[in-house]
Amino acid sequence: MVQDRKILLSGIQPSGRSHIGNYFGAMRQFVEMQNNHDCLFMIVDYHALNSTRDATVMRQNIIDLATDYLAIGLDPKKSVIFKQSDVPEHTELAWIFDTITTMPFLERAHAFKDAEAKNKEISVGLFNYPMLMAADILLYDTDVVPVGADQKQHVEITRDTAEKFNRIFGDTFKLPETKILSNVAVVPGIDGRKMSKSYGNTIPLFAEDAEIEKLVMSIVTDSSAGVPKNVHEIHKLFRSEADLATLYQSKAGKYKELKELLFADIKAFIKPLREKRKEIAGDVHAVLDVLKRGGEKAKAKASAKMEQVRERLGVKLY
Ligand code: ADP
Ligand code: TRP
Repeated sequence: MVQDRKILLSGIQPSGRSHIGNYFGAMRQFVEMQNNHDCLFMIVDYHALNSTRDATVMRQNIIDLATDYLAIGLDPKKSVIFKQSDVPEHTELAWIFDTITTMPFLERAHAFKDAEAKNKEISVGLFNYPMLMAADILLYDTDVVPVGADQKQHVEITRDTAEKFNRIFGDTFKLPETKILSNVAVVPGIDGRKMSKSYGNTIPLFAEDAEIEKLVMSIVTDSSAGVPKNVHEIHKLFRSEADLATLYQSKAGKYKELKELLFADIKAFIKPLREKRKEIAGDVHAVLDVLKRGGEKAKAKASAKMEQVRERLGVKLY
């Protein structure tokens, strides 16, 4: 490990197929940053437990996400790729954070407020979710957390939690910074809401051509001055603003043609990724081996940190 490299950590829930929102909002930065950071990339399966309660689905989603990570170019020689449940220190530290955090503080979290506004049943796990995320990040002395804009608040909560712990028990945790790609705030889904696995409105990152075509053609066209907003927002991921300005001007009001052009661009972009993924998916054992080894490396780091935490708390007696 090179001394002055910053530590980078991020995670994605294994809760469905990766999509272009995940890629442009977060995953693409992972690939670029692994060359000059010490990186840890997680599959946060215990987070996904808040929405996935089927062992077969969970197992498959974990393998799929590990395959996706490798297909986009995460390299186990450069980065630690692992799943959260292989390192029980995450849930242990989350409990410790629970004890120093108040209910009103967590009631301000967007995810909780959204669920409450929609009258959803809210598990204690969902309510506490930011504490588990804080543990994920703080266990590894993380400097940088690359995520999509929707996760900004969670990283702020993480910083607040680190500060509070440090204030009570003495300096223990480093305060992490969020890294958000400013030109890709939130990628809209085909229905115009945030693209999300949980809304069923995604364009999957490794989709087949026919599927991409069907999805692109069904993008909701909420337009102003002949420019279909959602089509344009998604198109921005694949072409420069200058290119698009000319294109959308010359095709003003021609939604079908604009969608066909977007389909062609997405298709060309996805093809090589999809082919690489198929190759990797052919050897599941190799994929599992990457996760297992990654878990061992992460565990070594996390258990050293927890020794220090237990010492600070006064529970380490031998
Ligand atoms: P999802 O909402 O699809 O379940 P996750 O919560 O697993 O996605 O998010 C994984 C990463 O992808 C996070 O860093 C998140 O900020 C980013 N991300 C998710 N959806 C989008 C989007 N529509 N636009 C930009 N980034 C996104
Ligand atoms: N909460 C994040 C999401 O839904 C996933 C996540 C969990 C994460 N732990 C993390 C992201 C730690 C970055 C760092 O997208």
